[in-house]
Amino acid sequence: MLGIETSCDETAASVVMGGDDVLSSIVSTSIDQHVAFGGVVPEIASRAHVVLIAPVIAQAIEQAGIPDTRIDAVAATVGPGLIGALLVGVAAAKSLALVWDVPFVAVNHLEAHLYAGLIEDPTLEFPLVVLLVSGGHTMLVEMQGPGRYRLLGETIDDAAGEAFDKVARFLGLGYPGGPAIDRESQYGDPESIAFPRAIPDSLDFSFSGLKTAVINHVRKHPDVVTADVAASFQTAVIDSLVAKARRAAPKVGAKGLALGGGVAANSLLRERWRTACDEDGIRAFVPSRAMCTDNAAMIAAAGWHCLRSDGPTALDAGAYPGLRLSFGR
Ligand code: KG4
Ligand code: ZN
Repeated sequence: MLGIETSCDETAASVVMGGDDVLSSIVSTSIDQHVAFGGVVPEIASRAHVVLIAPVIAQAIEQAGIPDTRIDAVAATVGPGLIGALLVGVAAAKSLALVWDVPFVAVNHLEAHLYAGLIEDPTLEFPLVVLLVSGGHTMLVEMQGPGRYRLLGETIDDAAGEAFDKVARFLGLGYPGGPAIDRESQYGDPESIAFPRAIPDSLDFSFSGLKTAVINHVRKHPDVVTADVAASFQTAVIDSLVAKARRAAPKVGAKGLALGGGVAANSLLRERWRTACDEDGIRAFVPSRAMCTDNAAMIAAAGWHCLRSDGPTALDAGAYPGLRLSFGR
């Protein structure tokens, strides 16, 4: 399966065999072109995809060490994401499927993030509670098997990654904010400021009040050490994420807790996730950082499962910027 991902600023292609054997994974990003704007500029991202898509696909096939005649199907992210960016990957995937006369498979980017743990540890047992934390989404999902999900909780305002990005921008730490706060926090005291943990009794999340609390605190204490703010903020976010996932696990009889999405690259989250699972006697699935952030191996893996369960996608299917994860399939 050749997987193609172009939903945001990463142009990625990967060849995966049998749903979990990653033969190659190439990720090229246009992030450097967006830094000056403090966020991804859709038009710039689309143009970068047009330039990068063919060489990235060629490199993925070359690195896989197979002739392109061995590719049995082509999967691409059809949403959610930036429409101009999505269209580049979808058009490339459909064209190759047509030329090679193999099936095209439409993949939901969010579903693909759920598969990250599965690719690296095929021994993973269901049911699982997966925490999907990215720049646009924060969800707790019960995964009963490939393609079988139930939403347990989600953010009622900002996504966790969005909170990291907004707070980092306010603190002058740059973009993307997640890795910047992660780094800065190493030099700060996580207990120096008691930021709020919102709606603790719910499995839903809320981060916009926390963002306001950070802004108010810094305005009131202009001499506060930035690293202390970063570390206290990060701890507040991660505390909420871990506590809710942990509370969801016994409700669904989960055998394990899995992480997915860009924020799952966060050092504190990864450490606290493992500790929580050890204490609760369930398995922790913490994918490598490269598998957490946007990549095409997860698209190919999800595509493989979708092809098996639903068959090929018609070539007149489009791209869907607001696509949601479908539950209760
Ligand atoms: O999944 P992803 O690569 O793209 C989306 O589908 O959104 O996630 C990107 C998000 C950004 O908000 C970024 O700041 C955050 O993941 N992120 C992190 C870290 N690395 C990336 N957040 C916290 N700590 C990190 N180390
Ligand atoms: Zn993503």
